[in-house]
Amino acid sequence: MDLGLAVNTVFLNGDFMHADQARVSVFDRGFLLGDGVYEVIPVYAGRPFRLIQHLQRLQRSLDGVRMKNSYSDDKWSDIIAQLVTENGQGDQAVYLQVTRGVAPRDHVFPEGVEPTAFVMSNPIKPLPESYKRDGIKAITVEDIRWSQCDIKAITLLPNSLLRQKAQDVGAQEALLIRDGFMTEGSASNSYAVLDGVLYTAPKDEKVLPGITRDLVLELADKAGINYREQAVSDADLHRAEEIWISSSTREVLPVTTLDDKPVATGKPGPIWQQIDALYQRYKQEGKV
Ligand code: PDD
Repeated sequence: MDLGLAVNTVFLNGDFMHADQARVSVFDRGFLLGDGVYEVIPVYAGRPFRLIQHLQRLQRSLDGVRMKNSYSDDKWSDIIAQLVTENGQGDQAVYLQVTRGVAPRDHVFPEGVEPTAFVMSNPIKPLPESYKRDGIKAITVEDIRWSQCDIKAITLLPNSLLRQKAQDVGAQEALLIRDGFMTEGSASNSYAVLDGVLYTAPKDEKVLPGITRDLVLELADKAGINYREQAVSDADLHRAEEIWISSSTREVLPVTTLDDKPVATGKPGPIWQQIDALYQRYKQEGKV
């Protein structure tokens, strides 16, 4: 059976190998306990995008779970460069994961165990053209995740459950509501435009500090778009002029249907169009 799994080169614990050859122990704490952190880094025309920022966030996640970094930033950069070259020069998404390593199952951290480091890269799936032309559908759901969502942990069961809820009703993202306010998407940061002002939740423990989010706010700042790092209420979200999501693999996408109702006119809004144009230009100029 063809599972659609990567059949290219991957990196595991110091070696490059064919994906079919890569093996991890069943005692790996990533497998048994979900004890690990990860990054997803887009690569455009062979160049990793915002690599330094992704490696800084990796270090932040590792610190957050008291795990040591297997490699220096230079070494990670070399590994990623080699992998991307081996797997072709097109647009790719690099997936990097570090787990606490292989040890007898125990909640308590093992001592003297080397982390498991794994990196793969796959072509970025082109998104359907309709996503930008017409916008995407989203639903609001209760944010059932833990209270350290700023750590990019591999433990994605809540995110996966919520994203599947969206999928089940033909929506492309679930927007998460915690205590009456939007935090982020199940796999994205989220934004709302209210009275011409762009809002996104502040970088605290309730959201992932998105690398794409940082760039969106940088571009908004340069373009003179008024923005506030402040969470919007569920009620305000449902009267927003524009709603967007952003991530490394989906860039910035307009949400034009929320909970089965059109967002304002039901078409991608002008501020999204401005940001998307700036984002595309930034990419095309080969900036990283
Ligand atoms: N996820 N919030 C959550 C919960 C995410 O999972 C992601 C990205 C983001 C956006 O972060 P960034 O702009 O740095 O990609 C925000 C990745 C793409 C994933 O899990 O596949």
